[in-house]
Amino acid sequence: MASTTPSLPQLPEEIPRPNHHEPTESEPLLGRPGDALQRPNSPMYRNLYLGTGILSQAGLLLLLLSISIPLLSHRPLPPLLVPHPLLQLLGLALLIQAILILQPTTKSNPTAKSRAAKSHGILQLFSFLLFLSGTAIIETNKHVNKLAHFHSVHAYLGVITLSLLVVQYLFGFTIYVTPNVWGGEDKARQLWKWHRYVGYGVLVLLLATTGSAVWTEYIETQIGVSKIGVVLGLVLIAAGVFPRVQLGKLGLREY
Ligand code: HEM
Repeated sequence: MASTTPSLPQLPEEIPRPNHHEPTESEPLLGRPGDALQRPNSPMYRNLYLGTGILSQAGLLLLLLSISIPLLSHRPLPPLLVPHPLLQLLGLALLIQAILILQPTTKSNPTAKSRAAKSHGILQLFSFLLFLSGTAIIETNKHVNKLAHFHSVHAYLGVITLSLLVVQYLFGFTIYVTPNVWGGEDKARQLWKWHRYVGYGVLVLLLATTGSAVWTEYIETQIGVSKIGVVLGLVLIAAGVFPRVQLGKLGLREY
């Protein structure tokens, strides 16, 4: 005989909560675990736009167009100035790709992580060469035209940021290639966390340096770059990169 007992109503704790999750090693700064993770068998290039990464790519495009269109339309083109912004912007674009390609990797997929780390190093090397060439051009411009150094906030920020970048490249290079400098592989591995903290700090400084360029006398009075376009581009870049930071990789969760 069928039971006549009515089924009990579901208790609140039995109702599945779709948004509830336990913290995991891959917990990003914003969003749910796995939002910006490289899945097994997923191609590495997808890391470049995964999750919020697409915002960074849109921001880079906006930044590049906002500065290069008015710059290259200006007549006459000052030959020792024009290459500086273009080379620095390309350097920034490669540096962002270097961050985006590595961010979604986890230690649970060591092969993918090691491949992405190699690409990170190569992209950073090319980015560094672009920054170096762009800086050499602007310094030559100052020397040839007998212009004063440290003429703007941009100049101060530029020199500070580039100096920190050199330290950061050496830091990453020695941890990766010559770990004995840091007392062996195990000790060196523990330093990656600090490489990440410094890296994100330098990124903020790089974005500030790029933004401040729009307020230099020459760009403001001669070129007329859209400040809204540049600031929006920089905000989008940051909004793409920072929410994807894995808290475990910064030592803020078990990793
Ligand atoms: C990450 C990107 C950049 C870095 C690291 C950087 C770095 C520098 C440095 C080191 C100087 C010369 C400092 C001196 O000797 O006094 C400089 C000058 C200059 N930069 Fe940049 N720059 C960047 C991006 C840009 C961009 C995107 C523009 C254009 C929109 C730009 C426009 C200028 C101008 C016009 C000067 C000469 C004026 C001045 O020194 O006040 N820079 N930059």
